[in-house]
Amino acid sequence: MEHIPVLLNETIQALNLKDNSIYVDATVGRGGHLDKILKSINNSKIIAVDKDFNNIKYLEEKYNINSSGFIKVENNYLRTVHSDYKYIEDILSFFNLSSVDGIIADLGFCSTQIEDKNRGFSFLKEAELDMRYDFTTNSKTAKTIVNEYSLDELINIFKDYAEEKFAKLIANKIITYRKIKQIKTTFDLADLIYNSVPKKFHGKTHPATKVFQALRIETNSELASLNIFLNKIPDLLNKDARVAIISFHSIEDRIVKNALNSFTLNCNCSNYFCNCGNNNKTLNKINKKPITPSNQEINLNPRSRSAKLRVYEKI
Ligand SMILES: C[S@@+](CC[C@H](N)C(=O)[O-])C[C@H]1O[C@@H](n2cnc3c(N)ncnc32)[C@H](O)[C@@H]1O
Repeated sequence: MEHIPVLLNETIQALNLKDNSIYVDATVGRGGHLDKILKSINNSKIIAVDKDFNNIKYLEEKYNINSSGFIKVENNYLRTVHSDYKYIEDILSFFNLSSVDGIIADLGFCSTQIEDKNRGFSFLKEAELDMRYDFTTNSKTAKTIVNEYSLDELINIFKDYAEEKFAKLIANKIITYRKIKQIKTTFDLADLIYNSVPKKFHGKTHPATKVFQALRIETNSELASLNIFLNKIPDLLNKDARVAIISFHSIEDRIVKNALNSFTLNCNCSNYFCNCGNNNKTLNKINKKPITPSNQEINLNPRSRSAKLRVYEKI
């Protein structure tokens, strides 16, 4: 199944796109949001970043990109970059840029990655446990984590990255299992978790859902990259430029909200006792509450149900 872009119209509207500008799509994926950006403006440059080489290759084939410069697509100029968005500052300096007119990041994974049985992201498809977005440079796979991390490390990632209630129980079962046999595939791990969690606690979702989320986050150092990226954003936006971030689970959304909200405050001191003289306020929040998908979108694309869009504007 092709990837369906989430909150597409809402995100494009929120970015307040203008002609003759420069934008970054920090998680271009299969180019769903990019495509709409390209059709909405003229004479602009778009830098499209993704950590997954397959997605970059897909877009280069789609848009017939065969040179290392910006190429003309629709009425704009596009350049793909295979990188982690945490390097956004370096990516911009490579193009002699210090700031841009808008940034979009649609976090997490694409449906095409989850459904590719060679990538080992899903407990529904048998594959070697892998889960790397950046399979060309990252050597740490989910298989490395389940077979080599200590008991405490496993418990911590299951708790911190997925709020898994049975973190200790599952981590203990993993340690016992791997003393006898290596955990190699998505099915090895999914079956082990299925059999570890007592049946009366099996809910609507597969009992391995949260552990798979935690492993994906750890394999790709997702939250560390996100924190670095978010803290760089205010300095990289021109005046009135907007950033739009779509998150898919509460841990991610909390990080986005806390990091970007901190730039909407004068400082981090208490209002009563502040005399620090710092002025941290560089962003305005555009929507008080995050934008969420309509029932119609959720019906058409159930993956969108947990999406939250937060939008901020540079002062
Ligand atoms: C939800 S998809 C984006 C979908 C895209 N907006 C579309 O409409 O096709 C998220 C993408 O972010 C990429 N990604 C995840 N972490 C990243 C990071 N730290 N830096 C750059 N890309 C990342 C993934 O490889 C994936 O392609």
